[in-house]
Amino acid sequence: MWNYSDKLMDHFMNPRNSGQLPDPDGHSEVGSPQCGDAMTLDINVDDEDRISEIRFMTFGCAGAIAAASALTELARGCTIKEAVSIENRSIVEYLGGMPEEKYHCSVMGHEALSLAVEDFMKRRDKTAEHARETIHRLESEGVLEPGSAEIEHVHPSRVLIRMPGGSEEKLKASVEENLNEITGRSMEVLVNE
Ligand code: FES
Repeated sequence: MWNYSDKLMDHFMNPRNSGQLPDPDGHSEVGSPQCGDAMTLDINVDDEDRISEIRFMTFGCAGAIAAASALTELARGCTIKEAVSIENRSIVEYLGGMPEEKYHCSVMGHEALSLAVEDFMKRRDKTAEHARETIHRLESEGVLEPGSAEIEHVHPSRVLIRMPGGSEEKLKASVEENLNEITGRSMEVLVNE
């Protein structure tokens, strides 16, 4: 029997943030080559790049469950940059220690979080690319004056476009329709002046 701290046992018995998010901004699935255990991790990220919601599921040992639970507590509210810099040492410290032989169990959560953040950034880049393409198309079709609409902020589920004057409603509807179709998500397009 491993010698686990009370805090680690508490996180194992009552994992925080377990489960899945219905339509996450970032998702990952990882496995541990050492033991064959697996984990999924979902994140939602706000417009300031902070992790607003995080959920995990793992088919792993007590150490993996407790470490993932601790990591989600440490990462929630952090910027994505801060979250990926959380070290395994911090997770182990947060849990009041962990047997050295089980350190590898905490690595899986860390890897899952990094991949979920990567997935979020890829989705955001894709949304930006699709929004740019749509605006260019509307410009070439004469719906928009060239250069009249500028993308101000992009999130995997919403885009903020600056457009001083002009056919805002048409732009909003066209970009929304296009992005919904491409991303498979219900996208929100905001247009301001
Ligand atoms: Fe597999 Fe701990 S033994 S994650």
